[in-house]
Amino acid sequence: MVTIQDTTLGRRRLDGAPAFGVYVHWPFCLSKCPYCDFNSHVRHAAIDEARYVRAFAAELAATAARVPGRTVSTIFFGGGTPSLMQPATVGAILDAIAKHWTIASDVEVTLEANPTSVEATRFRGYRAAGVNRVSLGVQALDDAELKALGRLHSAQEALDAVAIARAAFERYSFDLIYARPGQTPRAWTAELKHAIAEAAEHLSLYQLTIEADTPFAALRAAGKLAIPDEELARALYDTTQEVCSAAGLPAYEISNHARPGAECRHNLVYWRGHEYAGIGPGAHGRIVVAGERRATATERRPEAWLMRVEALGHGLVTDEALSHGEIADEFLLMGLRLAEGIDPARYARLAGRPLDERRIAILRDEGAVETTPDGRLRVTQAGFPVLDAVVADLAA
Ligand SMILES: C[S@@+](CC[C@H](N)C(=O)[O-])C[C@H]1O[C@@H](n2cnc3c(N)ncnc32)[C@H](O)[C@@H]1O
Ligand code: SF4
Repeated sequence: MVTIQDTTLGRRRLDGAPAFGVYVHWPFCLSKCPYCDFNSHVRHAAIDEARYVRAFAAELAATAARVPGRTVSTIFFGGGTPSLMQPATVGAILDAIAKHWTIASDVEVTLEANPTSVEATRFRGYRAAGVNRVSLGVQALDDAELKALGRLHSAQEALDAVAIARAAFERYSFDLIYARPGQTPRAWTAELKHAIAEAAEHLSLYQLTIEADTPFAALRAAGKLAIPDEELARALYDTTQEVCSAAGLPAYEISNHARPGAECRHNLVYWRGHEYAGIGPGAHGRIVVAGERRATATERRPEAWLMRVEALGHGLVTDEALSHGEIADEFLLMGLRLAEGIDPARYARLAGRPLDERRIAILRDEGAVETTPDGRLRVTQAGFPVLDAVVADLAA
């Protein structure tokens, strides 16, 4: 039996201060985008937000009873489309979080928003409720491209929402999807430069992924959706890195770019292997209970989640202690997404064995990984496009 020496099991930030995140999932959208496989649902009847608030509060109470005494450093309202919630709903959930845990004085509270004009009218209400950062799903800055992605907003509407976010929040970010059908490096460079001119400190730039069982997957299978081949996708990725780095927004994670110091602290909680509670339909968590790191997941279907919480006080369908090997693999998988890489000593403490030096040497010779002067292991620019293979090799 291997003893884990890392007794905090992910409850500490790299700087040693406690890190604890709360993820809240709002599972509804106005329509389903044809590329998306997130846990998002369209409902034509009105959503009873008061009933959901009661269920969120109950699930928070049940979680806090298992992990008491934490100081919350980050909160993230993700979706789905959290900007469909009334500001009072967001405020009530934040109050419920504050009832059970201490809120750090520098807490980061992010809300994901769709950039339609209706949703932007709620931004000041979210700010008043305690949200201090928004992440907008802009996706593209061209109307024809937005239509092809099945989006409900125009490029101008998205830019107007960005301007409203800039006025209402000290921090905002927006998402773009690239490697879209027919996209050239030249067109993407122009779009990206436009985006950078609108961005303050943070951009999320995702390569279009064709997810199974989505309308895009069906179109592709029918030969009606031609996405960039590997070579073009690689050229678009390289363009992204060059343009963003030159503009002072280097990648700190494979798809996330920020001015140094402006990284999304909530997502860093995941990537650095720290502790977070997952609340709401289909939310995942990693919590430390009685010295064990546990993986939690809740019922995905919103109405089934509601009924489960109302009957049992929580919506959990998964609640498993992770083995040392699983914790270490997850640490590798998440940590190597980061430009800062991982601390091999922490891996060794979690896994009960060090990383295989021979494998590292081979990957280093191939130019896929490097060791920093302070001893961290990280994936190189050339290694990121083959990250999955690098992780699989090191974890083997
Ligand atoms: C949870 S989604 C939602 C945010 C919000 N509902 C919206 O659509 O604006 C977070 C982000 O994931 C990205 N995304 C979702 N599906 C994707 C896919 N198949 N390929 C690439 N990016 C995707 C989009 O950029 C999106 O903004
Ligand atoms: S991309 Fe956003 S708006 Fe579209 S279905 Fe997914 S979560 Fe909903």
